[in-house]
Amino acid sequence: MSRTELPGYAVSAGHGLLAQAAALIESAAPAHRFAVITDDIVRPLYGEELARQFGGRASLFSIPAGELHKTRERWISLTDALLDAGFARDTTIVALGGGVIGDLAGFVAATFMRGVPIVQIPTTLLAMIDASIGGKTGVDVTAGKNLVGAFHRPAAVIADLDVLKTLPPRHWRAGLAEAIKHGVISDAMYFEWIVASLPELTATGGSTSPHVTALVTRSIAIKAAVVRADETERGRRQVLNFGHTLGHAIEAASGYSLLHGEAIAIGMVLESELAERAGVAESGTADRVRHAVDRAKLPVALPDAMDPGEVLRLTVGDKKARGGVTRYALPACIGAMAAEAEGWTLPLDDALVRERLAPGT
Ligand SMILES: NC(=O)c1ccc[n+]([C@@H]2O[C@H](COP(=O)([O-])OP(=O)(O)OC[C@H]3O[C@@H](n4cnc5c(N)ncnc54)[C@H](O)[C@@H]3O)[C@@H](O)[C@H]2O)c1
Ligand SMILES: [Zn+2]
Repeated sequence: MSRTELPGYAVSAGHGLLAQAAALIESAAPAHRFAVITDDIVRPLYGEELARQFGGRASLFSIPAGELHKTRERWISLTDALLDAGFARDTTIVALGGGVIGDLAGFVAATFMRGVPIVQIPTTLLAMIDASIGGKTGVDVTAGKNLVGAFHRPAAVIADLDVLKTLPPRHWRAGLAEAIKHGVISDAMYFEWIVASLPELTATGGSTSPHVTALVTRSIAIKAAVVRADETERGRRQVLNFGHTLGHAIEAASGYSLLHGEAIAIGMVLESELAERAGVAESGTADRVRHAVDRAKLPVALPDAMDPGEVLRLTVGDKKARGGVTRYALPACIGAMAAEAEGWTLPLDDALVRERLAPGT
């Protein structure tokens, strides 16, 4: 098992952790009662068994699966359900699921009774290596993704690699996008190792391949190091948004038919091309990003049916826009991000972005 320390909590990753999860949760965040929030797919796989470990002191709350349910409406129904079931201040919330459940249950925990502890039990690759770490919680709204939320540190993050065996291949590959991102933003050797390992990682049974431990451990270490340096995203943490300014807009423009990781994959390809065209990134960077994304069997271009104008409009609502100007976290090369002196993001000329997304318009 690996254990990665952040201020206030630790991320544990290894095999067989779910079988002892109640004890780990109780020691990190002791409470009178435990509310396990999950989705309708994860509940029968792992939720019932986890709730049983608490011997009658836990209740399960489950919502339909998918990004379309990371909403204020689900926040209302979950907080009402907790109140109806008599939950009070002496509660620990447990988020059991992917990033959707982690973000939504995290926002419930940040606000219920003005804040109760949460333990994150991520069950997707994406949630294990990215979403569960760092305390960002929130919901999507009509204007865009994650625009209403709060920072709420977890009391612990417990990642059991065994649960990845049931993850559908499409969701497994979506998680690989965030791992590729980790390589680009801070570790060229890790990037190359991922690219070399992708044939095994994307083969049938890839989520149980011997490479998974190294993948999860290295990505957790990178995410944790960035969060440790800048928990509330005043500067350095913005490098984690590489691919996300366009990616979030693409995800929303698809009506959430593209998964978060798929949209981010396209966003990374486009943003690294823009970085090269703007003279920010070393020549060849975009080709290497595109090659990695393609080898991970993730999309490298906007779907034909997507309106590039809609994508551009949605970037303006992005949280990284400041003073009406959309800002981007861009690579200088594989393994290092640009713009340290400017606070790690740069504005890009609208015309340059429009020309790349919709040539000739
Ligand atoms: N807070 C952050 O810092 C942060 C960082 C990155 C991403 N995110 C958010 O994470 C979300 C995406 O997370 P995701 O990709 O995990 O999606 P998700 O939560 O929708 O999970 C993907 C699917 O896999 C299913 N599933 C989960 N675990 C499973 C398992 N072990 N076996 C079988 N099925 C399983 C789920 O039911 C769901 O259908 C987005 O909303 C994104 O904005 C947040
Ligand atoms: Zn992401």
